[in-house]
Amino acid sequence: MAGKSVSDNTDSDGSRPFGEPGQPPGFGPASITAVRTLPELAWTLRELRRRDARSRVAREISFRELAATTGWPRDAVRDYLTGQTLAPIDRFDTLVILLGAGPAERRELAAARDRVADLQLGAAVALDAVRLSGQSLVAREAEVAGLQAAVKAASTGSGGVMFLCGEAGIGKSRLAEEAARLAGEAGLRVLRGRAATPSVQFRALSEALLSVLRRSRRPADPDLLPYYPALSRLVPEWRVGLDARPEDSLVVLAEAVLRLCVAVGRQGSLLVLEDLHDADQDTLTVVDYLVDNAPDEPFLMLCTVRAQPSAGLDLVHAARSRRAVTVYGLHRLGDEAVREMAGACLDIAPDQVPAPVCPCTWRSCWPGWSGTGCSCGRTGPGPSPGPWPSSCRSPWPRR
Ligand SMILES: Nc1ncnc2c1ncn2[C@@H]1O[C@H](COP(=O)(O)OP(=O)(O)O)[C@@H](O)[C@H]1O
Ligand SMILES: [Mg+2]
Repeated sequence: MAGKSVSDNTDSDGSRPFGEPGQPPGFGPASITAVRTLPELAWTLRELRRRDARSRVAREISFRELAATTGWPRDAVRDYLTGQTLAPIDRFDTLVILLGAGPAERRELAAARDRVADLQLGAAVALDAVRLSGQSLVAREAEVAGLQAAVKAASTGSGGVMFLCGEAGIGKSRLAEEAARLAGEAGLRVLRGRAATPSVQFRALSEALLSVLRRSRRPADPDLLPYYPALSRLVPEWRVGLDARPEDSLVVLAEAVLRLCVAVGRQGSLLVLEDLHDADQDTLTVVDYLVDNAPDEPFLMLCTVRAQPSAGLDLVHAARSRRAVTVYGLHRLGDEAVREMAGACLDIAPDQVPAPVCPCTWRSCWPGWSGTGCSCGRTGPGPSPGPWPSSCRSPWPRR
């Protein structure tokens, strides 16, 4: 890529390499990892360009040549290389390739670019210091107490069904995780599956069964034998050696799932089915059957569902009016709990969490918070939680 013009290829900002004052420029992996600011990133790009020229024993590629090669305006190229503007992701990736970065360097440089973008957004803490999961559960005392009681009851033979409902990011999965932890501690077998879009028949149920069966053999319970053909719809390897064609009654399949769940748990089982708003109708039919039949078994079923119109939410309403199921409609965490949660993720004390983070943290957009705003686009206090959409016909108390 040897060029001819050199008129516009000099470092017009005359910036020095970053690091200790007076230190020689030390371009390399460590300097890329140390990049935090736009000028540092631009210096790194220019160092790449110098190295590229040295390796080709030619002069440095000019802004004009880069512009001609990429089709971008020359001013844009200049701004990227002098640290006036942060190149968009695709352009940045192209640029470092043209400047001769190797594959490992490209990854490091992409990470450096992302870091600069994050810090430009105003994040006062480097993202690698943020933990987004694994932090302890905050608040939700009533729900946790309900889960504890339900787990205890299931382990003594009185099963039940719980639904966790609420908007996306409100903490349904986090509570389901807590339920799984409590159940594990109580000796229950935990089976977990999640529905997803696009909807696939029985996805959540198959995943839940496979989550256990992939690590253990088929239970040797003779009572289960008649149900293998039905279960083979969810566990494909069980089709091998079965003469009968898969049983296609959903009631038989639902009973088979219940029996299998009970059989795999010596002290009871917890079946967690997440995101029922995405579940297919056949899965919901099975869930509906389990709602009616769980209470007589050492079997607890916990389902999460978004509070938005869906067949899954309709099932919750119907189950609630029909049977003693427990439905928790999750409300947004209060400011104090949000501070606690954000502080735990950032490894700082709750009172060090800046105030603007709080209105934004009820949703998963929160890691993009900054001193003045949030990556979700909100800059002031977020909208008040407000009532459930009327289309949801929420059965739980309104705030
Ligand atoms: N009570 C809580 N305590 C700690 N972290 C929480 C709590 N509620 C939600 N989170 C965190 O917020 C994020 C979004 O929660 P999540 O459970 O995935 O929401 P949902 O399943 O309702 O969409 C996750 O990182 C989760 O760990
Ligand atoms: Mg979830």
